[in-house]
Amino acid sequence: MFEEAQLYSPVTTDEDGNVTVHLVEGHPGLKDPEYQRRRNEIAAVSLAWQPGDPLPRIDYTETEHEVWRTVCEHLGPLHSRHACRAFNDAVRALDLPRDRVPQLSEVTDGLQGLTGFSYVPAPGIVPLEEFYGSLEDGIFHSTQYLRHHAAPLYTPEPDLLHEVMGHGNLLADPSVASLNRLAGAAARRVTTPEALQVVADVFWFTVEFGVLWEEGSLKAYGAGILSSYGEIEEFGSMEIRPLDFAAMATIDYDITHYQPVLFAADSFGQMVDEVGGFFAACDDETPDRLGVVRKPG
Ligand code: TRP
Ligand code: FE
Repeated sequence: MFEEAQLYSPVTTDEDGNVTVHLVEGHPGLKDPEYQRRRNEIAAVSLAWQPGDPLPRIDYTETEHEVWRTVCEHLGPLHSRHACRAFNDAVRALDLPRDRVPQLSEVTDGLQGLTGFSYVPAPGIVPLEEFYGSLEDGIFHSTQYLRHHAAPLYTPEPDLLHEVMGHGNLLADPSVASLNRLAGAAARRVTTPEALQVVADVFWFTVEFGVLWEEGSLKAYGAGILSSYGEIEEFGSMEIRPLDFAAMATIDYDITHYQPVLFAADSFGQMVDEVGGFFAACDDETPDRLGVVRKPG
């Protein structure tokens, strides 16, 4: 239901080996040559990495550390109020720095002891099969760049803050880590593009944008809500529906704006059981069972 290409800025390499990030339309960095130079530099580092190499280190600039600090300062109190308990416990368990940008190796070191997950660098978009599939092995492909300092509230393009503050913290929770592994296994099991899209759509409305009820209050467990201090203040006023996998697989969504429709689980436990059960049972027949109408073309 979505075009991923528009989400990430494409990365190209010319014949001299120069790596260029082509910022997507409307990106706040388009008028900032220094930001573009920096994005190219970081993309080149991520691109050069091969499995088996040590995780690449980026020497983050003071501007980047400042973006990280600003977002952490805003998100801290918002997480206490709006994130589910499992997330807040996981934040304490992983204990990532708030005053500077962490390296992927620090995220991996923290997760290894808790759930066995590791982070590997991605210059930008990773093909769906690869991104989801490797979750089965406990591998998370993460960008290494930061959003533009002029727009720390929200970015339509996933950045290190989203991957680490959102997903990384959640992956420190054993139930959420298993859920991600089950999604990865589902992505590898299916053999049709329609079935893979269902995995991606359900992932979108749960792991990325899921909410759940906790003692009568609506709390967020979706990484996309938890990494945006703009979106986290708005999710309470969105249309909230009960968990419904058929609806998730059929409604259209716009990946570049705050999500207007969210699906709420009855509890954290119900979310883990239902969403985990869905991924565990997902196969090539799932789109038909859910009544997904094949799009022409
Ligand atoms: N909007 C999120 C943030 O500001 C990051 C993000 C961009 C994202 N694209 C996404 C999250 C897609 C989930 C899915 O932190
Ligand atoms: Fe994400």
